[in-house]
Amino acid sequence: MQAKDRIILALDVDTRRQALDLVQELAPYVGVFKVGMQLFNSTGPDIVGEINDYGGEVFVDLKFHDIPNTVASAGKVMTRLNCRMFNCHAAGGRAMMTELSLAVEQEAARRGIAVPLTLAVTVLTSMAQNELENDMLISNWSVEEVVVKWALAAKQCGIGGVVCSPREIAAIRAACGNDFKIVTPGIRPAWSKANDQKRITTPAQAIKLGADYIVIGRPITAAANKIQAVQKIIEELEAASC
Ligand code: C5P
Repeated sequence: MQAKDRIILALDVDTRRQALDLVQELAPYVGVFKVGMQLFNSTGPDIVGEINDYGGEVFVDLKFHDIPNTVASAGKVMTRLNCRMFNCHAAGGRAMMTELSLAVEQEAARRGIAVPLTLAVTVLTSMAQNELENDMLISNWSVEEVVVKWALAAKQCGIGGVVCSPREIAAIRAACGNDFKIVTPGIRPAWSKANDQKRITTPAQAIKLGADYIVIGRPITAAANKIQAVQKIIEELEAASC
């Protein structure tokens, strides 16, 4: 994979115009653009096709978590929208993940279109051990054990990969093998501000730890020269032979 294709740019903006300005400027340097709840709920699903029209691929980050039939139906919509990847919560359970994987494959085959990569979110990185125990009522296991168990469950249900913290990459890679895709946010080049990210990893470190894709937003979108910022990240990845 080329270094550029490993970069997922977070389009954390409110409007279609702001998003498409970023896509137009950065599509030659970025593999995938991430549309999360903020942008998707503001513009509606047409934003996916509009980003495609500018030559960008899309990760729809809506983290589905519902009964199996509902999530499978939403997955078919994601497939028809031609997004490159989208995600669900592993906490939705095996039946939900299995029905989702099957629905996506069937819908793509029925229409003769590409199968999007399905990703699972395991334990949200905003959750600490005490919240796992006191709020989710999951005791006896550490966060890392739950993350790895749920990643493995996702794989067994046909989900193509996970979104996880850089600190979880190595354990998931060891448990789930090399074909399972790992996407990680919390990325900060050495030259950029941490903002509100706490446990950060550089782009090269994340890929060396075993990530396939890095999600990165403000170090690029808030830079005075966005193209220069993304080019520096590409150079960093290339220098590390990623
Ligand atoms: O601007 P920044 O690089 O911090 O953006 C990171 C993106 O990754 C945001 O869209 C954020 O919501 C997302 N994300 C994250 N940490 C997680 C999961 C998702 O930063 N644990």
